[in-house]
Amino acid sequence: SPFHAFLKALPKCEHHIHLEGALTPSLLFSLAKRNSISLPTDDPSFASPEALIERYQRFTSLDDFLQYYYIGFSVLLHSSDFEALAWDYFQHASDGGVHHAEVFFDPQAHTSRGVSYTTVLSGFQAACSRAERELGITTELITCYLRHLPVSDALAMFDHAEVQESYRNGSIRGIGMDSSELDFPPELFQELFDKAREQGLRLTTHAGEEGPADYIATALNNLGVERIDHGIHLADDEELMKQVVARGTLLTICPMSNVVLRCVKEVKYVPIRKFLNAGVKFSINSDDPAYFGGYILDNYCAVHDAFDLSIAEWESIARASIEGSWCGDERKQEML
Ligand code: ADE
Ligand code: ZN
Repeated sequence: SPFHAFLKALPKCEHHIHLEGALTPSLLFSLAKRNSISLPTDDPSFASPEALIERYQRFTSLDDFLQYYYIGFSVLLHSSDFEALAWDYFQHASDGGVHHAEVFFDPQAHTSRGVSYTTVLSGFQAACSRAERELGITTELITCYLRHLPVSDALAMFDHAEVQESYRNGSIRGIGMDSSELDFPPELFQELFDKAREQGLRLTTHAGEEGPADYIATALNNLGVERIDHGIHLADDEELMKQVVARGTLLTICPMSNVVLRCVKEVKYVPIRKFLNAGVKFSINSDDPAYFGGYILDNYCAVHDAFDLSIAEWESIARASIEGSWCGDERKQEML
């Protein structure tokens, strides 16, 4: 449709994409073969890429998805694997009109398997350089900490010499927090976020995806994050919504993810209209595109189909995605 072309051409930024979530079943199977990794034999979903794709359409919750997500990590061993993964994502992002991407990865889930942080980072960095060179996409990398693991594990990762070096030399712009939400409220990780803030890192966290609005409040007030990843449950708390508007906090919303993980029944139940009316800023993102059936442009189109937004509304959403980015002002000006 003509609107699809308009949405594609809008200069946009993506802020909520887990690079490991860009592992397509086809890349998963080819890396498993190349690296001689055996996939689970007790789950028929791993019989073929087609069976896996079919299983991905039947996730019942965030945790149900996460078990597949973490099994997928097992095929990623070499720097070249991480490069191939991220490059696959950047090509799709470019096709969708992404000019700047701020991408998450989960260091703890690789080092715990014996894959070094430097192996992961160097592969991702190679893809970022190529994306800038060949696609004109600028990038920022964000290390996410896993909330289902002990706080001590996160702190050890944060203090690890290779990780510290990447923070000091600017390879990594900030930290986030992800994985299973309900049993792990943000304030558990106070010390981690205090240390990151003292070091001048940018801060964000997943909150209010499956968890309540209270988790968004503690993420903002205790951890001091400047963005909230997902944040759809903000819509349940009018008072907090006013505070978020006053602070100018950006939510990084992932509509197709919310449907596939059953946080909402359909895209039309993502509180997009409520946030627009209240003046809550948000960007629209893909989260784990290989698992949730679409990249950023698919998410833009799904929102358009559900809400029939005006051209002016779309321009303001894309502008918020640029203004809420963690790149320099000069780069923002180029995109605006
Ligand atoms: N890790 C990857 N995707 C995630 C999501 N949507 N929520 C929490 N953790 C994640
Ligand atoms: Zn996410």
